[in-house]
Amino acid sequence: MPNKPRKILLLGGTKEAAERAAELVAQGADVTTSLAGRTREPEPVAGKVRVGGFGGVEGLADYLLQNAINELIDATHPFAIQISANAKAAAERTGVTLTVLTRAPWQRETGDNWHILPSPEAAVDSPPPGATVLLALGSQHIAPFARRKDVHFIIRMIDRPQAPLPFAKHTIVLGKPSSEPDKEASLLKAYGVTHIVCRNSGGPGAYGKIVAARTLGLPVIMIERPTP
Ligand SMILES: NC(=O)c1ccc[n+]([C@@H]2O[C@H](COP(=O)([O-])OP(=O)(O)OC[C@H]3O[C@@H](n4cnc5c(N)ncnc54)[C@H](OP(=O)(O)O)[C@@H]3O)[C@@H](O)[C@H]2O)c1
Repeated sequence: MPNKPRKILLLGGTKEAAERAAELVAQGADVTTSLAGRTREPEPVAGKVRVGGFGGVEGLADYLLQNAINELIDATHPFAIQISANAKAAAERTGVTLTVLTRAPWQRETGDNWHILPSPEAAVDSPPPGATVLLALGSQHIAPFARRKDVHFIIRMIDRPQAPLPFAKHTIVLGKPSSEPDKEASLLKAYGVTHIVCRNSGGPGAYGKIVAARTLGLPVIMIERPTP
């Protein structure tokens, strides 16, 4: 009997998901990448793309059944814990096979000056008054820092915000993190950054700033991964 054709829903929004989509399409699988729709102009990915939430576990389970999906791959960002929980529950409910691709977290190395904290909220009071902080958290997670009127924030974002940000002192830098430490070091020096606030995302894409901070001797306020 011929093998059942692979019909895959890939929960994406990460570089790894795009790489996996390209591999699977090259193998002849029918792949749909699902994006949450947070980025205005997402990078193109191989195969089909759908955009937007499913409407919780129920909506995702319905999608799997209605589209005759036989494999679900969760390649979402390690901090995207809601969609990962939904994927697990929807897979259990429908019997669709779930594969989870999780990046390993970064490990502290000699020369790293990390202050590890459990959440963005817990990190708000960490930079000293007068600091210039690269706030590398993603636009959804920066709001708690707005109460620090005594800190200048360098806020890196992919898309320009639609409304003014509620920060007393800030500079917006449009763009993605670089994997190249030299580029990140140039940015840190150009803006006079004294501290970095970021999450332990893992993977090479955003690691450039960690190496740059090590080289420049800058403290990194590192938010650890949420417990699923
Ligand atoms: N968190 C980050 O820092 C980060 C960084 C880079 C990329 N991303 C990507 O951005 C997306 C959103 O991240 P988040 O932290 O907001 O996630 P989240 O908190 O886990 O998800 C919130 C809701 O957004 C919808 N959603 C999330 N990912 C989706 C996807 N791939 N396809 C369709 N709907 C999705 C779901 O809505 P419904 O319940 O309505 O289905 C989910 O319940 C993720 O796909 C993630 O891979 C996130």
